[in-house]
Amino acid sequence: MGGQCGRRGGSIRLSRPVESTFACSLSSRELKELAAPPGDMKGRMSLDALGEVRDFWNRVASDWQTQVGEDRDRNRRLNSDPVLRDFAGDASGLDVLDASCGTGYLSRKLSELGAHVVGVDLSDNMVGIAEELSPELDLRVDSVSTLGGLEDDWFDLVVSNYASMDVPFLEETLDAFHRVL
Ligand SMILES: C[S@@+](CC[C@H](N)C(=O)[O-])C[C@H]1O[C@@H](n2cnc3c(N)ncnc32)[C@H](O)[C@@H]1O
Repeated sequence: MGGQCGRRGGSIRLSRPVESTFACSLSSRELKELAAPPGDMKGRMSLDALGEVRDFWNRVASDWQTQVGEDRDRNRRLNSDPVLRDFAGDASGLDVLDASCGTGYLSRKLSELGAHVVGVDLSDNMVGIAEELSPELDLRVDSVSTLGGLEDDWFDLVVSNYASMDVPFLEETLDAFHRVL
């Protein structure tokens, strides 16, 4: 376990937390460009950045599931899951969007609690694993910054677990969340 994935010439050891090493593999110039691209480049940058993020998660999907996908991540179990539970309250019967659902960890937990969950993720490999594990769930491949195919005013709750650090354009993403809520 713990192979290496190159990204822009960098190298990521999967034995370390994926989300923190992922950000570190970009140079400070690249990070600045992602954060504030010049106006006319924004669309192209956006597509390039999304493509890179998707390719990255497609490459590491099965390693992610092996190492942290279910209950192997103590940080989630002991720290963030309780906060999420408090924040979400009783989700039973609610329509919940799991934005950037990955391999479906949180979607499954919410579904077990009685929520009607739709999971959306950019990486078809992550969604493929989620579908294998939970064929009963409504899982879709899309970017959370557009949420195409999801109707306005659909959901009671949007959750996004360990994902927004990957999304290059947060403003569009928040607009999309607002639209579907
Ligand atoms: C650290 S994983 C977390 C997965 C899941 N939320 C969990 O808790 O297991 C980050 C996920 O965000 C997804 N992601 C990144 N950018 C995205 C975007 N713009 N739209 C949808 N999903 C995105 C990646 O494909 C990856 O599955």
